[in-house]
Amino acid sequence: MDNEQALHSVDRLLHDVVDSDVDVLRDASRHILEAGGKRVRPRLTLLAYEAVGGKDINEVLPIAAAVELVHTATLVHDDINDHGSMRRGRPTVNARWGRTFALLTGDFLFTKVYQLMAPFKDLNIIFAEMTMALVEGETLQAAAAKSGQLDRETYARIIAKKTASLFAGAAKMGAILGGGTPEQVSALEQYGFNTGLAFQIVDDILDLIADSQQLGKTAGLDMAQGKGFATMMAGAHGSKPTTATAVVNVDAADPLAAFKQKMMSGNYIQEGREQANQLATLAQFSLNALPASEASAELFNLAQQIIDRDH
Ligand code: IPE
Ligand code: IPE
Ligand code: MG
Ligand code: MG
Repeated sequence: MDNEQALHSVDRLLHDVVDSDVDVLRDASRHILEAGGKRVRPRLTLLAYEAVGGKDINEVLPIAAAVELVHTATLVHDDINDHGSMRRGRPTVNARWGRTFALLTGDFLFTKVYQLMAPFKDLNIIFAEMTMALVEGETLQAAAAKSGQLDRETYARIIAKKTASLFAGAAKMGAILGGGTPEQVSALEQYGFNTGLAFQIVDDILDLIADSQQLGKTAGLDMAQGKGFATMMAGAHGSKPTTATAVVNVDAADPLAAFKQKMMSGNYIQEGREQANQLATLAQFSLNALPASEASAELFNLAQQIIDRDH
């Protein structure tokens, strides 16, 4: 089975595992799962498994599916918190079914992780740690947005927890199940962590420069809500932010547009891109700990795709 086939199998598993006799849970879960999505995290799990010489890709499929489920659950909840109305090119679960059912759909997706991960004993410890970090990251971000303080250190801490932890764990679990040596497992964990940081920085830049149509999700939300890279950069460069509207003259006809203008005219975006590039290079460097293989070459390319992406 090649990688694309393995990802199809992951999708089938996702479809089946969210079956429920409670219609709204099944329908809302499939609505979001089957809307597409880049499937970066399950890809990471599969490639890490193969890169260390794992032989039976079928055994790692439930972990790849569980990783995608956790990610999807957090998107469903994130769209409640961030007031998102579009996700993966479709209306968000909260836009279509309302907040209550969106909350419950996210919970439902989390419960399905237990089911998928049950056979994997100690890997559940890694799973629990990365999921906990994710919730901590989202909470730190909400606290920062509320207090109006988002310095570089806090931003780095937030994205490490909310995004990089899942990327790191996804790769680590694949590597362990594939029989990697401790050095290979740690290299792949590091690879996941650094690509995860790069992924979130690029995502925050896209939130600022791309439109909703291109992204398939509501753009500009993080900027508007005092979350993300733009807010942090505004603060780091002397303004006393941190909500977007506080950075620019509040009398501006359209404060958000003025904020965006400010971001685009400085070298903020360039600075973010350079950081993401460095992180991707570091990630690629970690791959030296692995024997040459198609999977490791794909991981090398994946790090590049993460920084080059436009949606
Ligand atoms: C969105 O993740 C949330 C972030 C961590 C930035 P993705 O961009 O991977 O979302 P999908 O799965 O492709 O929709
Ligand atoms: C999504 O984060 C949720 C997690 C990373 C846990 P964001 O709010 O930054 O991502 P988008 O822009 O909505 O996809
Ligand atoms: Mg968010
Ligand atoms: Mg969001």
